[in-house]
This record gives sequence, C-alpha cells and structure tokens, in this order.
Amino acid sequence: MGQLFVCWTGLGHGDCSAMQQLAAQGLRILESNPFTVDWMRRKVSVIGAGKVGSTIAHLLALKGMANVVLVNRTVGIAQGIALDIAEALPVEMSDVEVVGTGDYAAIAGSDIVVVTAGAQRKEGMSRDDLLKVNADIISSIAAEIKKHAPESKVIVITNPLDAMVYLVKKVTGFDRDRVIGMAGILDSSRFSSFIAEEVGVSVKDIHPLVLGSHGDTMVPLTRFTTISGKPVSDIVDKAKLDKIIERTRNGGAEIIKLEGSSAFYAPASSVVRMIDSILNDRKDVVPCSVYVDGEYGLEGVFIGLPVALGSKGVDRIVDLKLDESEMKMLSDSAAKIKSLMQQVDAMQLK
Ligand code: 2OP
Repeated sequence: MGQLFVCWTGLGHGDCSAMQQLAAQGLRILESNPFTVDWMRRKVSVIGAGKVGSTIAHLLALKGMANVVLVNRTVGIAQGIALDIAEALPVEMSDVEVVGTGDYAAIAGSDIVVVTAGAQRKEGMSRDDLLKVNADIISSIAAEIKKHAPESKVIVITNPLDAMVYLVKKVTGFDRDRVIGMAGILDSSRFSSFIAEEVGVSVKDIHPLVLGSHGDTMVPLTRFTTISGKPVSDIVDKAKLDKIIERTRNGGAEIIKLEGSSAFYAPASSVVRMIDSILNDRKDVVPCSVYVDGEYGLEGVFIGLPVALGSKGVDRIVDLKLDESEMKMLSDSAAKIKSLMQQVDAMQLK
C-alpha cells in the first residue's frame, strides 16, 4: 500500500496536537510546503569513489533514480567526481543531486548504502587474498553506516564478497533482509554474454543463473540457465559449456589480466539493477549473496541464491528444486564461504 503523507503549511497550536495524534498513527508528517520539499526523492549513498563507485553514481544520476552521495577517504576525489557528474546532468536532462564528501554524516537518511571501498586484487591474486586488508576497511565503514544510516539497506561489493557482506551484517546488526551482496547477478551476466557469443543469440533471450560464492566455487546452473525457455545444456555441447563455465568462474581475473585493474562497468550495472528493484519494489528475482537460515538446507552463511528484491531489501529467497549434484556444488561453496567467515570472526578488527 502506498504511504500517506500529511503536509502542514503553517503550525498553529491546534495543529500540533492533531499532528501528534497523526504521527502516533505512523503517518509521515512533512512540516513544510509540499511543493518545495523533495519528499519523494530517494537517496543512495556510495562508499568508495573508485571506478566501481563512481560508475554507480554516474548510472544512478543518468537514470534519475535517486539523489547520490559519494563518500571517499580522499575527499577531493569524491567532490571532483560528483561535480563532474552533476555538470553532465543538464545535458542528460536529469535533475537529481550528486554530492561528494568525506563526512559519513552525509549518508543520513539513505534508502540504500552501497559499499565499494577496499583494496582490489592484482593479477594472480584470488579474491580471498583480500580478506584481511578489506576486513579492517569494511568493519569501520559498517560502523559508520550503523551510526549514520541505521534504517538503510546495504549492498556490498567489496571482495571477498560473501565474507565482507557477512562482516557488514555482523557489525551493523541489521536484519538479514537489509544486508545484501552483489555477485551472482554479475557472474550470471558474464555467463549470459559468453553463451550469447557461442550460440549467436541475443542476450535478451538468455536467462542465466549462477549461484553460490563469488569465487572459484561459484555454481553456474546449466539446467536453470535457459535460452528462450530451453536449458542451455540441451543446446550447447558439454565440452563447449564446460569452457564457458570456466571462463565465467575466471571472468574477473580475465578483466584484470587485460586492463590491469578490476572490472567496474559490469559490477556497477549489476548494482544499479539491484537498486532499481529495491527502490521501486519490483521483486526482480536476481542471484544475490544473502544470509540463509535453513533455506536450501543451509544455515548461518552468506551465499548467492535467487532473491526477489523489493522495498524491504530481500523480499524473499526463491526456492529451486536442485538435484543432488547441484546441491552438492552449493554445499561445497557454502563450506568454503563459512571458512572465510570463521577467519573474519577470529580477526581482531579495528
Ligand atoms: C569481479 O568479479 C570485481 O569481483 C568483481 O569483477
């Protein structure tokens, strides 16, 4: 149901008691002229003004999806990127606000906070090699989110993804619906683009599904990945499909090898798709890293599963009937993630 707002344009004595009664009923009181308050404009804060964070900010602003706050330790970088994006908006005919800052207080009131800050891996490194260095960074960012944006939903991108999103949930104490890792949607998108290249069809006709960890144990589900409704395993021969699966597992490393730094366009587009579904309560079903509490027979671990994303964040985890081999791959992936989570628990974080 939509939210009912009551707007006051002048506060007489009698109004105050009436307003208190309405507020007690949970109505949102706007104490100002409704025509000057941007009371419907949503707010997304992006922590980290690197290539991923700045591309997310740019995409959100271009699409006019929300006001954007870009937070960075080096303030000038956030301010410069925000100003550059803002100066593009008159051309793009978008009227959202984009600001850059180093002050976490600016994230107050965010609908969504996106965490991209942290070290990136170099060629030859695995995402798991970033565990210790990024755990310290993410731990302090999560404490700021808890302090300044306690009602927000949090989308985490920093690697090793499943362990870092666990750390954000642990430090913020937010319920599991509001802490989500971006990974499977990126891996699935790569899977789709490689299949399209092989088969010669539009990516619009492919419905990819990669679950599990955002790492070597990710689980591309060929039975549930379809081309116009037909399982890809019925269309692409096994040898070629195995090659595509291997390339998907190594999708991040392939980009690093080619351009010397991590991918940022595909990760940013993946995050913006998640933001769109949450802000507009679309219930878009996409693979995300979420905390399971018995779903798929798994407990106490963040792992990539098909999730309907809506206004509360994780609206629900979608149950697929996996067969024995698919369940084995998912359980093995969960075990690998759990070992990283245990390493996080053993750390003395700042
Ligand atoms: C990737 O797979 C950065 O983990 C991200 O490209």
